[in-house]
Amino acid sequence: MVPPSLRAIFRNKRAWPLALAMALAFALAGCSRGSYPLDFFSEMHYNQSYKAQEPQAAGELPRGSSAPSDSVPVTGRGLPYDLAQARALANPAPSDAATIAQGAYLFKVNCAMCHGADAKGGSSGPLGPRLTAAGYLNPPADLTGTGPAAKKVDGEVFFVISKGYAGAYGLPAGSFVMPPFEKLMSEESRWEVVRYLRSLP
Ligand code: HEC
Repeated sequence: MVPPSLRAIFRNKRAWPLALAMALAFALAGCSRGSYPLDFFSEMHYNQSYKAQEPQAAGELPRGSSAPSDSVPVTGRGLPYDLAQARALANPAPSDAATIAQGAYLFKVNCAMCHGADAKGGSSGPLGPRLTAAGYLNPPADLTGTGPAAKKVDGEVFFVISKGYAGAYGLPAGSFVMPPFEKLMSEESRWEVVRYLRSLP
């Protein structure tokens, strides 16, 4: 049975365009991301190669992977090795003035607020004193030639920058604030920062 209000709309021809527009609006609202049977607007987010929850075509994707095998991560890849393996790595960044300048720039943007513009740690960066007040165990480390990082090989320093202090050494994250930069800086950039730190007396 048709409700009386709908019957009124059917009888009143002038209400038809409005009723049609409303029906269309409801129909369109039902469409969600990637649910068009036909992509008549070829928009970037309706990517041909990957849709969320899409069953993977046999042989197309590596097992257990949710992204196409040839996709390129934009935030840098996760490190496929542990601390011991990282210690054996040599710094692939060139040892020249341009690389050190780039590392210095990256340091200023990403690290100086804690470790200080001079990389001396302690309270030389604006955040240093606040970290202790916030309950973290250590002040930012001295990253110059006189600090603890100077006694570690390049690969280990790179690993700490990548995984964070707690992550690198298997310590409780809540007590050690040195953050992991794995997803914030590219691998190349992290090695450039190591080059810069090694240039400090
Ligand atoms: C939020 C503050 C903060 C930021 C940002 C930060 N650090 Fe740290 N860092 C620390 C603290 C604090 C420590 C001491 C270890 C701990 O308690 O986490 C530390 C430790 C380290 C160590 C280990 C030193 C040792 O004992 O061998 C290295 C290397 C290091 N930081 C490099 C960096 C670099 C490079 C950046 C920027 C890419 C950076 N940190 C950004 C706070 C910070």
